[in-house]
Amino acid sequence: MERTEKDPALMEKIVSLAKRRGFIYPGSEIYGGFGGVYDYGPYGVELAQNIRAAWWKAMVQDEDNIVGLDSGIVTHPKVWEASGHVSGFSDPLVECKECHTRYRADHLLEAVDAFADEKMSDEEINAIFDGKRGEIACAQCGKKNFTEVKRFNLLAQTNLGNFASDWTKEPTYLRGETCQGIYLNFKNVVDSSRVKVPFGIAQVGKAFRNEIAPRQFIFRLRELTQMEMQMFVAPADEMKVYEEWRERRWQYYLDLGFKPENLNWHEHENLVFYAKAAWDIEYKFPFGFKELEGVHARGNYDLTQHQTFSGQDLSYFDQETKERFIPHVVETSVGLDRTFLAVLTEFYDEDDLGGETRAVLRLPKKLAPIKAAVSPLLRNKPELVLKAREVYAMLKKEMMCEWDDNGNIGKRYRRQDEIGTPACVTIDFETLENDTVTVRDRDTGEQKRVAVSELMAVLR
Ligand code: GAP
Repeated sequence: MERTEKDPALMEKIVSLAKRRGFIYPGSEIYGGFGGVYDYGPYGVELAQNIRAAWWKAMVQDEDNIVGLDSGIVTHPKVWEASGHVSGFSDPLVECKECHTRYRADHLLEAVDAFADEKMSDEEINAIFDGKRGEIACAQCGKKNFTEVKRFNLLAQTNLGNFASDWTKEPTYLRGETCQGIYLNFKNVVDSSRVKVPFGIAQVGKAFRNEIAPRQFIFRLRELTQMEMQMFVAPADEMKVYEEWRERRWQYYLDLGFKPENLNWHEHENLVFYAKAAWDIEYKFPFGFKELEGVHARGNYDLTQHQTFSGQDLSYFDQETKERFIPHVVETSVGLDRTFLAVLTEFYDEDDLGGETRAVLRLPKKLAPIKAAVSPLLRNKPELVLKAREVYAMLKKEMMCEWDDNGNIGKRYRRQDEIGTPACVTIDFETLENDTVTVRDRDTGEQKRVAVSELMAVLR
């Protein structure tokens, strides 16, 4: 399917398929929804798990020097002071004075071809915004009457564990990024496992951000899942390792089956003061090229800050060089939800099959939520149903399968195509004679007969 740079119709089709086929539902939908939170349905949770497993395999299982971690979502409040999030994790906010709708100033500016980002000072952003006020109208009421740009902190507060005091004065926070848990456990991992610098710690988990304007479906969420890896290296090696990881993360998306023309490198214009380099891998979403993953050289800022705030020694002694240093960090960070949206976009297709237009998710087998659907040709023939159940039970032991005897066979195929099921297995009258089944290929629609004894190997 041909794709233009911006394709709102494609976005609509993906959102509609995701809901209709049980991939993604709006959060708290029966209560009118809850902005920036989505729920993953029966197929969504399978696809998300497969994305997570593919990432984990590439980042932990296939590597010799990266280990996993699962740290708490809630931490000591000092963590977020040390990391700089309490004072600096904010987005520029403007409010329409007429209808009180709130916007991210940089997003409004982007729409009129002006650039600003969260790393600029308040004065800088206000100057740019003032220069464009005349061109920016509120999307709700159409007026051009905005407040000045203010900072809005993105950390979400919680009272978990705080029973004694007024928690709003002494809050702790739901983590704003998963990597802070990695820094907190750097010393624990060094002391309790056999890792030696250079080594990495990988983690997948929830993060929370009070986004001013969650939007574009699951692209910008308030509750999100991040897949992050922090590589701890000797100071002199930071940029060499950084370049290696830039290449490897690009290759990861190609290995996943993404077309190179749908990926793009974007260098950050404004670096935070401690960072040495920051590049994003952008993906061509239906609303244009946007950040999918960040690859960052973070220096030794985070460990140094946690050492200062905690009073604990977080330095590392290199037995070979006899040097003591605070390791520098190369980070790769990607949202699972954003990957999910990129995967739906990349593999959604429409074609003509047997004179009919169909929608199909051409998911790689390892990502497909269901690997095979098993059906009796007719659901009212007990001998076919019995045999089909037998085949289904055999396959189910090894792969995610679905029993599908709804509607006629054509309807079943359409449904499985939209879910992305690579193979549909049908048990018919010939099966009862020679123990073969038909296997229909999702991508070509072709069918071939396969002996039941060979079926598992064929599907694998
Ligand atoms: N530890 C570095 C860090 O968190 P980031 O650029 O803020 O860096 C990393 O986030 C990745 O997390 C992004 O590239 C994106 O994939 C994902 N992400 C960030 N904010 C998100 C949001 N509000 N909704 C969904 N995904 C988000």
